[in-house]
Parts: sequence; C-alpha cells; structure tokens
Amino acid sequence: MHLHVANHPLIDHKVTVLRDASTPSPTFRLLVDELVTLLAYEATRNVRVVDHEVTTPLTVTMGTKIASPAPIIVPILRAGLGMLDGMTRLLPSAEVGFLGLKRDEETLKAITYANRLPEDLSGRQVFVLDPMLATGGSLIAAIEYVLERGATDVTCVCLLAAPEGIENVRKAVGDRADVSVVVACVDEKLNEVGYIVPGLGDAGDRLYGVV
Ligand code: URA
Repeated sequence: MHLHVANHPLIDHKVTVLRDASTPSPTFRLLVDELVTLLAYEATRNVRVVDHEVTTPLTVTMGTKIASPAPIIVPILRAGLGMLDGMTRLLPSAEVGFLGLKRDEETLKAITYANRLPEDLSGRQVFVLDPMLATGGSLIAAIEYVLERGATDVTCVCLLAAPEGIENVRKAVGDRADVSVVVACVDEKLNEVGYIVPGLGDAGDRLYGVV
C-alpha cells in the first residue's frame, strides 16, 4: 500500500477551517468539495491514458486521453457522498458506483447494506472516497469488495487519517494489489470510541446533520 500525504498550504488552510467546531454545515460542505478537488489532482496522477492524435488549427500532433474502460469512483455512503462532486469535477468521464457500509454492532465488522457497482471490475481503476480513515474497517471492506470483483488499481481518497487506521489498511492489503491512500493530513491518534483526534468530529453529521 502506498500512502501519499498531500502537502500544500491551501489544503492545510482548508483542513484547519474544517476542524473548527464552529464552521457551519454549508461552509463545511463547500470546503470538503474544494479540498477533494485538490486531493483529486494528486490522486489521479497515475490515471491510465492512451495516446491520442489531435488536429490543432496548425498541425496534427500526439496527445493523450484517459483510457477505456473509464475509471470508476466509489463514494462510501453516507459521508463519502460529500466528496463526489469534487472528484467528478476533475474526472468527469468516470463512472460512479455506490457502496453503503455499516458496522455490525455484534461482530464489529463492516457489512454492505447497499451497493450499485458493476459485478466485473476487471482492469478498472477505482477511486474510493471515504473522508475519515479511522479504524480502517470500512475502507478495508471497500477495498476488498472491489478487489474481489477484479479491480487491479485502487486509490482511496480521504480527508483525515489516524495512524492506527493506516496501519490496519497496510496490514489488510499487504502487497496484494496496487492500492494507494491519498490523504490531506495524518492526525495524532484514535480515541477510545474510534474518533480521530484532533480530527473534525463526525464527518457525516457535519456534512448532512444528525439524522
Ligand atoms: N468517522 C468520523 O466521521 N469521524 C471520526 O473521527 C472517525 C470516524
């Protein structure tokens, strides 16, 4: 697993405002959108392209275009939805699949309660969106889900990560596939109830309210 921690003053500024408990939901949503667009630039650095001939007003030259099959973006419901527009802004030709994961309170394992994804992801580049890499439970479940369906190249885009979660993803994924995590900031720790510290609280609640 490859970890890429974005390093940019605009990203740091936006993360700082997101952390602020007094930032209201509309501003929070807007900032997540802007932040993801910046992270998407990093996350798509290895997007597959093919050579493409183009006729300019002056001549014919070779360029590149995003290869087929199109990449697929998979926001993890609910909070990952807040990252979707920021990602599709940079990758408008991508397809979008959905994955709803929740924790089984008995086994503490992530279970899939909703999915809308192609059965066959062979050869597809997949971008998984999950704002908070806390214990890593949902992200690991999502990575396994897409790898089982044949994805060979998985990039996870997260806003904040806890070192414990990164380690868990690293252990779970091993060297099975080409998996990267792009994150705006690695925080200090997880607290005893699984929140990232200093963190920003519950990302889903801050985006969409407590429902
Ligand atoms: N999920 C969140 O929304 N926030 C955390 O701090 C951890 C998990």
